[in-house]
Amino acid sequence: MTESIQFTVQAGGNLQGEARVPGDKSISHRSIMLGSIAVGTTHVTGFLEGDDALATLRAFQAMGVEIEGPNKGEVTIHGVGLDGLKAPKEAMYLGNSGTSMRLLSGLLAGQDFDSILTGDESLSGRPMRRVTDPLSEMGAVIESTEKGTAPLTVRGQAGNLQGIHYDMPIASAQVKSCLLLAGLYAKGETSVTEPAPTRDHTERMLQGFSYPVKQAGNQASVERNGQLTATDIDVPSDISSAAFFLVGASIAPNSDLTLKHVGINPTRTGVIDVLKLMGANIELSNQRDVGGEPVADIRIRSAKLKGIAIPEKLVALAIDEFPVLFVAAACAEGETVLTGAKELRVKESDRIQVMADGLQILGVDAQPTEDGMVIRGGQIGSGQVVSHGDHRIAMSFAMAALRSSGTIVIDDCANVNTSFPDFVQLASRLGLNITSENV
Ligand code: S3P
Repeated sequence: MTESIQFTVQAGGNLQGEARVPGDKSISHRSIMLGSIAVGTTHVTGFLEGDDALATLRAFQAMGVEIEGPNKGEVTIHGVGLDGLKAPKEAMYLGNSGTSMRLLSGLLAGQDFDSILTGDESLSGRPMRRVTDPLSEMGAVIESTEKGTAPLTVRGQAGNLQGIHYDMPIASAQVKSCLLLAGLYAKGETSVTEPAPTRDHTERMLQGFSYPVKQAGNQASVERNGQLTATDIDVPSDISSAAFFLVGASIAPNSDLTLKHVGINPTRTGVIDVLKLMGANIELSNQRDVGGEPVADIRIRSAKLKGIAIPEKLVALAIDEFPVLFVAAACAEGETVLTGAKELRVKESDRIQVMADGLQILGVDAQPTEDGMVIRGGQIGSGQVVSHGDHRIAMSFAMAALRSSGTIVIDDCANVNTSFPDFVQLASRLGLNITSENV
């Protein structure tokens, strides 16, 4: 069992200064996966040393890949080529990480060995049929529980996978990436069509490893076609981690904060669009391209936010940022309505229910709906809320204290380590009155 960590956040304060938040989680996972199956040595800088990306790193070490680091965000991966992975000696434990499990299940489906993927209680409750169903259409053999959840036993089908064309019923970058990775091992073409744009880091990074990916409209496809060639990867800061500070500095009076080197891939910037629609004061500067991913410095100053109907086309582009956007909505004038976001119910926690429960404890008028939430902005009170082991819920409620009338205590915060290990230190340096203790 992980120890139980409790955050205590005193009311008030503001956010000032300059900071670099940790590396992008999605890109960190993919750097290990693609670096491992490439030919040659890949150097990664800015790697996120959080539990989720480390779970991926350990899985590839368990499959015989020599990986040095991480050391201050630097990782060196001695790639073994597409067919060089070895059978792991035991089940691979992936902790809280849905990205590890879903992407790995695709990559492992075409190996010449069997493997078992396990996770913590939250990951073991999350739906895996969304990947195992299309993978079995490709000829993969994967056993799960009756409910379609982990542990997954992947019976490697080297040489026997067949490419398919898959029309994804949900907008999911994890499903898309899983199938593209399986496609590297399948005969013929594997193509995936998405109902709405989702993060395209896999497609961009495959191209960075000199591997051809066809992209046309809302479809991405690969063929088994040669090899990945090692490259160097500079991981930008994670906009999903920056999001807590985008909201914090917007809602706390007299804030002026600059976040450096943040990834602004257009499939990830929904949080900026939503906040700007609410009236936030956010400026991007120094925009540049780093290894195929756009980055920028982001300056945020306090602003008076107003409630909005969040456009559904922004939902997939801000999918991980809704917990903290709900806090922004609680501080906005008027009503904010989110619809079309049912996926939030199957994230690390049921983020609709857990956020609504916590906001209600804090006296906010937050009404959960099947696929979203209706929040009427007002005064945030004080109280004790539970994050349900969900890192983003914990950090979102911490930011709420910038505008609360009294102290907010947040239980079950150990999983902040999955994506933002130095959150408490960084947030305190920038002005949040937060302490953390083992309980
Ligand atoms: C991720 C995709 C998203 C996101 C998750 C990371 C990825 O999940 O919520 O945190 O790295 O591909 P879905 O693709 O299931 O929406």
